[in-house]
Amino acid sequence: MTTEPLANWNGEEMPLAEVRVSVMDRAFLFGDAIYEVIRVYRGRPFQFDDHLQRLEKNLQKIRISSDSQRLAKRALLTLQHSGIQEGMIYLQVTRGEAPRTHHFPDPPVRPNELIYVRPLSDSYRERREQGGRALLIQDLRWKRCDIKSVNLLANCLGAEEAHAAGYDESLFVNEEGTLVEGTHTSLFAVRQGTLLTAPLGAHLLPGITRRLVLRLAEKCRLPFAEESVHRDRLDQVDEVFVTGTTMELMPIIQIGDQAIGTGTPGPVTRMLQQAYQAEIQAECGQAG
Ligand code: PDD
Repeated sequence: MTTEPLANWNGEEMPLAEVRVSVMDRAFLFGDAIYEVIRVYRGRPFQFDDHLQRLEKNLQKIRISSDSQRLAKRALLTLQHSGIQEGMIYLQVTRGEAPRTHHFPDPPVRPNELIYVRPLSDSYRERREQGGRALLIQDLRWKRCDIKSVNLLANCLGAEEAHAAGYDESLFVNEEGTLVEGTHTSLFAVRQGTLLTAPLGAHLLPGITRRLVLRLAEKCRLPFAEESVHRDRLDQVDEVFVTGTTMELMPIIQIGDQAIGTGTPGPVTRMLQQAYQAEIQAECGQAG
């Protein structure tokens, strides 16, 4: 049993620190790779099938041929061998190692498949209770943000802007002035009792947590609409929260210097946070 991150690199299990990859890998040179992050509670992966489906779709979208079922089996074995109870699984598939040409290697090369499992100290716990603060930033990303690619430079720059200013997340705003999503989170608002989130499309990631929250809203008989919020109409929303695999649901009580609603986490966010915890228990078992 170990709490060191344990990896599976192209089918071979080894400590993460021992994985070596060529600088000619196309992920290193071009960001030519896709990835998934899966949360582990009580030793079990949460929403595993949904993550695998998204992985499979992403492989198809960028035309990497890799077997997601085989990767799933490897991920479960690595998790089991790691003995990790509270953690995350990171999974990345690159187009592989080849001489540097912009077009795909011809003939194709073997994709590089990385899985690692590591313990997670839940750094968002306090913010989930007290609420976090977000900045608005211009969405500088490309037009296929539905692809979960490792090209995350605009996301990293945005997250750093928030971090450096003492904020918890940056929210991307498009050219029309509507809020899209966070740098590593999906975005929700509540207006007069209705849950709002941007409709899916090429401009944002179809979040697994987003989808679960929408299912939970339905279960709680909460009205919802796939509608984006404009930056000039933030005074009309009562609550805002962001969601993500490692973040879960975090209330946003302030955007820029503007308080949202009462400036404290709202009742709809609290209700969905509880429903989310119940879902974790139902799928992964009780804590402790
Ligand atoms: N980020 N939007 C973006 C841009 C993201 O990077 C993420 C997740 C989400 C939320 O997706 P999900 O609910 O499937 O985690 C939305 C992961 C966790 C990351 O990059 O670490």
